[in-house]
Amino acid sequence: MSFFGDLFKKSKTDAIYEVKSPNSRVVLTFMLDRGQISYYVKKDDKVIVRQSRLGIALKDAAPLADGFGIVRAYSRMVDDTWKAYWGEQHVIRNNYNETAIYLEETERPARLLTLRFRVYDDGVAFRYEIPAQPEMKNMVVSDELTEFAVDANSRSWSIPAYQPDRYEYEYIEHPVHALTDSVHTPLTIATPTGYYISIHEAALYNYGAMTLKLNNGNLKSDITPLSDGMRAYVELPFSTPWRTIIIGHDALDLTTSRMILNLNDAPREDFSWVEPTKFMGIWWAMYVGEWTWAPGERHGATTEHAMQYIDACKNLGIPALLVEGWNDGWEGDWLENGANNKFCEATPDFDMKIVTDYGRANGVELVGHHETVGFIDNYEAQMEDAFKFYQKYGIRYIKTGYAGSKMVINGRREFHHSQLGVLHYQKTVELAAKYHIMLDIHEPIKGTGIERTYPNLMTREGARGQEYEGGAIQPSHACFLPYTRLLAGGMDYTPGILDVTNFAKRMSTTITRQLAYYLTIYSPMQMAADRPQIYENMAPDLFEFIRDVPVKWERTIPLLGEVGKSFVLARQAWESSDWYIGGITNEEARRVDLYIDFLEPQVNYVAKIYRDSEDAHYRDHQLGHVVEERIVRNGDHVEMYMAPGGGFAIKLHKQ
Ligand code: NOJ
Repeated sequence: MSFFGDLFKKSKTDAIYEVKSPNSRVVLTFMLDRGQISYYVKKDDKVIVRQSRLGIALKDAAPLADGFGIVRAYSRMVDDTWKAYWGEQHVIRNNYNETAIYLEETERPARLLTLRFRVYDDGVAFRYEIPAQPEMKNMVVSDELTEFAVDANSRSWSIPAYQPDRYEYEYIEHPVHALTDSVHTPLTIATPTGYYISIHEAALYNYGAMTLKLNNGNLKSDITPLSDGMRAYVELPFSTPWRTIIIGHDALDLTTSRMILNLNDAPREDFSWVEPTKFMGIWWAMYVGEWTWAPGERHGATTEHAMQYIDACKNLGIPALLVEGWNDGWEGDWLENGANNKFCEATPDFDMKIVTDYGRANGVELVGHHETVGFIDNYEAQMEDAFKFYQKYGIRYIKTGYAGSKMVINGRREFHHSQLGVLHYQKTVELAAKYHIMLDIHEPIKGTGIERTYPNLMTREGARGQEYEGGAIQPSHACFLPYTRLLAGGMDYTPGILDVTNFAKRMSTTITRQLAYYLTIYSPMQMAADRPQIYENMAPDLFEFIRDVPVKWERTIPLLGEVGKSFVLARQAWESSDWYIGGITNEEARRVDLYIDFLEPQVNYVAKIYRDSEDAHYRDHQLGHVVEERIVRNGDHVEMYMAPGGGFAIKLHKQ
């Protein structure tokens, strides 16, 4: 008997193996039952996942699912600590027990399969490893058989998979037994026994993304298919992404897990050149209809506008500027004509040299833009030249985009989250790293923690963002994100739209909630998304917060909240004694009593508070707000009011 795993082996084809978390409270049991493989998970002796099937189905070959005998099992304990280049937490502990079970079919062709399990105090992970072997050189995966047999009466919050707008949907609550159509991960679930779990995956490379769907009453992996219906074509040796289950006692626990990052490898090269940033953009003016992406009378991306915006960035203290619509290809219906995009050619009214020289002279960097519209063949043909082009002008950041319901890859229409889509995104990240370029990916593949290995992958969209405002976002939406989408990593939600009452694009938020987003939605490339004249004229008192709020954090402490209802957290600035507290609520007003127990004791902090006024409301009094200062000490209670659709932000600085 070992202290972290026990093997009860009856025969070669019948064995039970327990893998325990470092604190022994989470136990994953692997079962080999007459050659068939399965697992179940318990926490504190309560069943979290009932016995669930494992296996991979193959085209033109028997599935890798039964007929196995155990060859050997190998266990180890890992307790490491690593430092992030940026993030919500600077120093991260990676502590788990691992068991690898080596299996071999008992009959010819005697194929080999390894199952690797890692059990953490906050959840479990496992993956299939298919070694190089004489009888199998490659595999065509027709289905993955992995099940997650959670209680079907659990509640769950999800977005649908295989939809035209990719991941950009509002979250819906369903009982698990109603998940008959595929949903994306992370899938958040509350069990009737009082646990919150998140099913997701880590280190997604060269494989279709996992979606989940009911099959015979159990949740089962549904790997995104390619256009021929297959899920993946791989050469051996091959390891699947990690299948992950984070387990918490409440929804806030899920937000503190670093398991997804921990399951990814440390960077293989030096990334000390990466640098989180904040940027404005020739962007929202297009959304409110003042400017256009396409050339013409109201073209946004002109040399003149870019220089004006650079002046504004300099005056406002924002270090970078995104320019969308500077390149050839936006004429006409750009969503239809995406195959014409040229990534190294500017429109006649935009001069990249003048603009970047002017930016450099004024201490403002450009954020480049590549809208591929999902025409991958067109993009990949130009990609390296396009990165070189930006590098020549000293551009270190690119926002990429993949609008369009499917991608065009090798002349065929493929899902963004299929194996071919995953391969494309990966190629982009690696090529960007080669040119020391950092990425903000819109319409991305979902996050699976690969930014630990490639820290130049700064942020992603990958959920319904603020551009859907003006009708298609409910105040509850941003209260779902921390417990769902954000468990997959940072998000570019494009916060900071202070022109909340704009008739063309009315926000479903109060004005102070726009500040709270900088705290509740993490992104190391964070946008100040509104137009400069708004920051200069409309709300300079609020803009100072947007300017000063950090983009990386020493540590993060969730304070209170419930899925879809509210979220309040505290963050300590990176290598600093400053703290920030932010909160948001759904359609309902909320008064929260925050107990402050994380500040340095016996020290006065000046708290600058940006909050909703008592009469503020996201529908008819969005601008109602109060900015005030008070002294806060460790051990104090701070009461905060959040109006319907509102929120607050506080900066705490030692007096
Ligand atoms: C969709 C992106 O999310 C948005 O930010 C961008 O402006 C448009 N595509 C055009 O590229």
